[in-house]
Order: sequence, then C-alpha cells, then structure tokens
Amino acid sequence: MKKVTVIGAGNVGATVANVLAHKDLVNEIVLLDIMGDFARGKALDTWQQAPIDFYSTRIKGTDNYADTANSDIVVITAGLPRKPGMSRDDLISTNAKIVSSVVNSILQYSKDPIIIVVSNPLDVMTYAAHKTSGLDRTKVFGMAGILDTARFTAFIAEELNVSPKDIHTLLLGGHGDTMVPLPRYTTIAGIPLTEIMDDATINRLVDRAKGGGGELVKLMGTSAWYAPGAAAAQMVESILKGDGRIFPCCVKLEGEYGMDNIYLGVPVQLGENGISRIIEIKLNDSETALLKDSAQAVKVVMDAYDALNLS
Ligand code: NAI
Ligand code: 2OP
Repeated sequence: MKKVTVIGAGNVGATVANVLAHKDLVNEIVLLDIMGDFARGKALDTWQQAPIDFYSTRIKGTDNYADTANSDIVVITAGLPRKPGMSRDDLISTNAKIVSSVVNSILQYSKDPIIIVVSNPLDVMTYAAHKTSGLDRTKVFGMAGILDTARFTAFIAEELNVSPKDIHTLLLGGHGDTMVPLPRYTTIAGIPLTEIMDDATINRLVDRAKGGGGELVKLMGTSAWYAPGAAAAQMVESILKGDGRIFPCCVKLEGEYGMDNIYLGVPVQLGENGISRIIEIKLNDSETALLKDSAQAVKVVMDAYDALNLS
C-alpha cells in the first residue's frame, strides 16, 4: 500500500484528503499544515466520517515533516487562495516562497516522490516545484486541466440538459484567463459538440469556463475547493491504480507543441511513476495562436518567479 501526503489542510487540501480517504486506496494519508492543530482537526473529522461512509483509510494531521517520510505521492495545496479582485498571478511571490520551502522539506524525508502541484498561479508554481526539486519532469506536474475541463463540461451539460457523464472535452494551456478550451475536441456521447451546438453558444460557454474560477471567487469571497480537491484526488487515484488514464495536466514542455521550457496544460497519460506519456494533438491555426498567447502569459509570470531568485 502506498503513502500519500497532502500539504496544506485548508479548503482544497482537506478536500483532497477527504475525497481520497473515501476511495480506500491507501493505508495512510498524511495531512500537513503550518497550523498543526488545524490539520489534526481536519484529519480527525475525516477519520470520524469513516464509520459513516464506510472506509478504512487512516489519516494523520501534523505540522512535522518527519511524518511525511517515504511518501509515494505528495499533493501541494499550501498557499494563499485568490480573493475578489485578485488574479491567480497576484499570488506569485507569497506562494512561490511557500511552494519552494515545502518542496525542500518534503525531499528531506521522501527520496523520489511524485509531486502534484495545486497552489496558484498553477503553471508557475509547477515550475517552482519542478526547479526546486531537481526531479524528472514526469514526476512533478500540476492540476488544473481536470478542473477547467470539468467546468466546461458542467456548463455544456446544463445547456444541453444531458448528463456530464456523456461529455468528453479537452483543454490546453495555462490555468488562467488565456486557457484554451477545445470545442473541436469535445464530444457528447461521441457526437462532436460543433455539430449540435451553434458557435455563439459554444463561445459563451468557452468564455464562462475561462472565467470559471473568478465566477466562484466572486460568489464566495475565496476560491473553489470541492471540484479542485476532487480533481487532484482523481490524479492520485489514477497514479495509484496505474490505470493509464489521460488527463490535461501542467507539465514542462520540451519540444512538444513546438515549445520549450514552458509549463503548460496538455493531455498526458498517468502511470504508476507519474506521467508516462505526453500526447500531442493536431491544432488548427487559431487553436495554435491561442496556445501561443497562453504560453506567453505563463512566460511573463515564470520570469517574475525567476526574478525572485528562490531556486
Ligand atoms: P486555504 O487558505 O483554505 O488553505 C491554504 C492552507 O495552506 C492554509 O491552511 C495554510 O495554513 C496552509 N499553508 C500556508 N503556508 C504553508 C506552509 N508553508 N506549509 C504548509 N501549509 C501552509 O486555501 P485553499 O482554498 O485551500 O487554496 C490553496 C491553494 O490552491 C491556493 O493557492 C489556491 O489559489 C489554489 N487553488 C488552485 C486550484 C487549481 O486548479 N490549481 C483550484 C483551487 C485553488
Ligand atoms: C480556480 O480555478 C482559483 O484556480 C482556482 O478555482
């Protein structure tokens, strides 16, 4: 049985741990936060849910990295969330310091873990974690695309009054306003979206998906956690099962899509050792232009990270 650690016991981290506990895939989940009692409380609450929801996963809350020793997978959710009026990029300096120090602490106790980054700004925090860790790019990657495609899927399901279960969609690019949902690669029970929805409606839903995070920040005063937490847990589940599922995840590109040294969301296949394959799909001219814009937006924030001289 494998060991999973979740760093940050806030809204997203506690949800990742809780969703994962329900899946009964690991003996123990460690939930670590600088607020140790908060992590211990969240862990205890999730453990007390076990008899009701019928799972056996043990969960330990802590502020001591020694408890994370020999983790197979670490999910990093530590850091500030967005508040109304903020973009994800506004979080850069605070969260970059947190993510770098978290990665250094993890690696003192776990030699070669798979690290899934959730903290924002996601693509650049993946860069920070990857650079700090010195691990292979297939072992340090970010969660955003599952969430962003889920939002696009949810809006399509609502519009067409169909089950989200029958919708498959794809999205590329950074986890920001320049993300690139791909209607051309979206199907409903195998039927291309472009055949059953008019362009104006598709464009409206694409725009809503792009602003999906901000819509929730406006409603709640902080960013979302149920869907983000479930999305990260889904990545952990797939890695633990080694079932070869394909998800859009943020990874360092080294030539794929004609881009180098940039962290962007692209479809990848997950395996027991992390990313087993990066999948390149054919894009038309306008999709390629949108992806380039998205890469440019991420690059600006990567440069801002470099200027902090943290790793
Ligand atoms: P939150 O404020 O509820 O929780 C963050 C937790 O991190 C707090 O409990 C805090 O004590 C802890 N923390 C801060 N510094 C730490 C450190 N050095 N070590 C350990 N723990 C530390 O925030 P929430 O809502 O859970 O969001 C967490 C992060 O995830 C934010 O950066 C947010 O923007 C991001 N996020 C990313 C998404 C994505 O799609 N990638 C989706 C939703 C949120
Ligand atoms: C979200 O998309 C803010 O990244 C966070 O909900």
